[in-house]
Amino acid sequence: MTIRVLHVASELYPLLKTGGLADVTAALPAALIEQGADARLLLPGFAPVAAGLEDLRPVARLARTFGAPEATLELGRLPGSELAVYMIRADAFYARPGNPYLDAEHVPYGDNAQRFALLGWSAAQLAQHLDPDWAPAIVQAHDWHAGLAPAYLRAAARERGANVAPGGVRSIFTIHNLAYQGIFPAQQFDSLGLPRDFFDMHGVEFYGQLSFLKAGLYFADKITTVSPTYAREIQTVAQGGGLEALLRGRAHDLVGILNGVDYAVWNPSSDAAIATRFSATRQSGKMHCKAALQTRLKLAQKHDAPVFGVVSRLTEQKGLDLLLAALPEIVTRGGQLVVLGTGDASLEQGYARAAHQHPESVAVELGFDETLAHEIVAGADVMMVPSRFEPCGLTQLYALAYGALPLVHRVGGLADTVVDASLENLADGLATGFVFERFEPDALTAAIRRAFALYGRSRDWRDTRSRAMQQDFGWAASAQRYMTLYRELAGQNTVA
Ligand code: ADP
Ligand code: GLC
Repeated sequence: MTIRVLHVASELYPLLKTGGLADVTAALPAALIEQGADARLLLPGFAPVAAGLEDLRPVARLARTFGAPEATLELGRLPGSELAVYMIRADAFYARPGNPYLDAEHVPYGDNAQRFALLGWSAAQLAQHLDPDWAPAIVQAHDWHAGLAPAYLRAAARERGANVAPGGVRSIFTIHNLAYQGIFPAQQFDSLGLPRDFFDMHGVEFYGQLSFLKAGLYFADKITTVSPTYAREIQTVAQGGGLEALLRGRAHDLVGILNGVDYAVWNPSSDAAIATRFSATRQSGKMHCKAALQTRLKLAQKHDAPVFGVVSRLTEQKGLDLLLAALPEIVTRGGQLVVLGTGDASLEQGYARAAHQHPESVAVELGFDETLAHEIVAGADVMMVPSRFEPCGLTQLYALAYGALPLVHRVGGLADTVVDASLENLADGLATGFVFERFEPDALTAAIRRAFALYGRSRDWRDTRSRAMQQDFGWAASAQRYMTLYRELAGQNTVA
């Protein structure tokens, strides 16, 4: 029997992306379809989504609008793919210029609770046959934006006096990042239309406030996160963000499934964005990509200077304050640093200042630029991902594919995907990058020195780079794990 699954999220590459979530919501449903699932997506109708979907047609009026003058459900298709995408058209909520979550001053919109409640509620409606032609057996809600979907499903079950939502629909909540908790003042709870007793420690209440993330974690039938190591880390006080007790209590329902790479988008042998294509067996094009990157960013044209790259949101999570402190280590040893990022003003200023001080060896582009991101990963020798915490991380996986050895902190998905170039790992033919243990300047500096040392041994460098490029982090294996989970959940339907 074909399993119908609805993915509920706020971003979708290439229409709307602020981070890795968009890459996942584009690639995972497609990978599931290849495994035989019938997967669709539900998104808020943010301006680029409404403009980018093809063949949009109305499906139903939404009876509840959470304060928007009107809201309708539409169904369209992602251009160039068969992926069916439902979209909530509520222009008063979603047709705002710029960032989907923040206003022009980088402050969360005052009505975010209502904007994203509409997303979760609409998912639960779809599960109850709002579209007469298609209804999911599984609703998979991604991050806090979709966190209320499992709560509305539970409320619908309760109305029928059952444990399981109408039609036996099951829910999964997927944590991409536990640091974003969707927290709102308690007073906003009344506007959500959930049963009163859901505002409880055993429910959506979180230290006196309302948390959409907690709603997802508490009410979903299963919880997944995006790497096995992160699944363990979030059960500890240090990394649980106050939710570790809940997560430990649900440990038997929690599983870490690694993200994958969409090799149709991130593949150096077919990438239209890069100067020259290359592959594990024909690596010479990478030198051209490096030279093109140096030219584009006005760095000294030195083919023998190792280029360290960063493509990242500039936030506390990413550990780029630590890298800024270690920057002299790269420059004085004759390396170059290329940074593409946007985010915290202090980090933007710090990196802009470094570029100003070292114009020949440090280049910084502040902004979000998909093409330049590909050019950097293609041209860099090393990609830096020194994150404080990292649920999965996609940048290091793209780096492996493009032979830019990842240099990472041993945490979350970074620990699960990169093997350090220690002597023993080199000797055993296992090394794919550089890994440091402690989140401290001297540990990062030592890893940078290790990168320089290996770079000086060109044979070892080439071998390691080839190995990195041959790693397979495609979506198929992960999609199979999700399929197993879906089957397990669907098999429980009979208790309804
Ligand atoms: P996160 O989701 O925490 O930001 P990931 O490593 O999972 O981290 O995914 C980041 C994604 O966003 C990658 O596809 C990366 O290329 C992209 N990205 C991040 N910053 C930028 C930027 N400034 N310009 C272009 N792409 C970016
Ligand atoms: C989050 C995490 C990142 C992960 C991405 C996609 O943004 O920070 O580690 O790769 O989601 O799951």
